[in-house]
Amino acid sequence: MIVLSNISKIFAHGKAPVTAVDKVNLTIEQGQIYGIIGYSGAGKSTLIRLLNGLEKPTSGSVTINGQDISAAKGEALRQARLKISMVFQHFNLLWSRTVSENIAFSMQIAGTPKAQIRERVAELIALVGLTGRENAYPSQLSGGQKQRVGIARALANNPDVLLCDEATSALDPQTTDQILDLLLDINRRFKLTIVLITHEMHVVRKICDRVAVMEDGKVVEEGEVLQVFTHPQQPITRQFVRQVSQYAEEEAFNPQLSSDLDGAVIKLTFTGSSTHQPVVGELTLRYGLPFNILHGKMTQTAHGVFGQLWVHVNASEEQLAKILADLRNSEINCEVIKHD
Ligand SMILES: Nc1ncnc2c1ncn2[C@@H]1O[C@H](COP(=O)(O)OP(=O)(O)OP(=O)(O)O)[C@@H](O)[C@H]1O
Ligand SMILES: [Mg+2]
Repeated sequence: MIVLSNISKIFAHGKAPVTAVDKVNLTIEQGQIYGIIGYSGAGKSTLIRLLNGLEKPTSGSVTINGQDISAAKGEALRQARLKISMVFQHFNLLWSRTVSENIAFSMQIAGTPKAQIRERVAELIALVGLTGRENAYPSQLSGGQKQRVGIARALANNPDVLLCDEATSALDPQTTDQILDLLLDINRRFKLTIVLITHEMHVVRKICDRVAVMEDGKVVEEGEVLQVFTHPQQPITRQFVRQVSQYAEEEAFNPQLSSDLDGAVIKLTFTGSSTHQPVVGELTLRYGLPFNILHGKMTQTAHGVFGQLWVHVNASEEQLAKILADLRNSEINCEVIKHD
């Protein structure tokens, strides 16, 4: 478990000090994929550098599995940092070394015996899908392959925590998805805690369990990804949710299109397990009424699908009240958009 307690970082260069991280409190459970999203300058990289002890906080503390990283020094800090590894936006590979040599490097530094290194490198090459490219140099690899090397290298010493600073920001959308799938696979297989920094909500949607939204050094919103997607509280969070195009407001249902329909238009919001229920079908059977789907959008997160459906039904006042009660019993959020 990672606990950030009231952590701040003030850079005091020149006349005007910059508060890069401002009294942040966060708890990241073991085995989670935790997303930190924010625009440029929000303080994300500073926060991640506080997590791996590269920066000392101005105040507050960071503990990882009970150890206070912010107070650790010398050999204790070095040992702790071996268990916190990092994946970078621009890969930071050693250009004069092959794929295998890049992956082996940190183990050589740690004094791991040669035979053990060889075995571990082979294992990691297979894990990240680079079989056949062992002897290639970074300049001969695609961006996605370079990041696979970056990930393999980061896993070499069996870390407790993997920190990813914009790990997919230099990649095209398809390659981004492949790298995110790889991170998700690694997380699920080894229960490895991953903290991931990004400015793209797509990344959060696809693999994160929880997300914190940063603005001006502060965490302004935090929660389970599904919850944040369905009920964003802050304007900045709404902006990020809108980035994921299915949720663009302009794509929402236009009620004017239903103005000539008699009856009710109901907006249903599904999250998590409620998406597995054949709700519309069941209502049709139970009430003998045709439900007409007017508009819908669904998206997938690491915790299941969530989405919204706009349905039209020509029901009596009494039937409508029962329908709404049934929907709420199935934990489906419903809202009557229009009713004549
Ligand atoms: N070493 C430093 N010295 C002085 N100011 C710094 C230093 N590092 C970061 N800052 C300032 O702290 C603020 C937060 O920077 P940070 O790099 O953490 O943001 P970020 O969210 O990672 O941005 P980006 O998305 O552009 O990477 C910025 O105003 C930045 O100029
Ligand atoms: Mg940054």
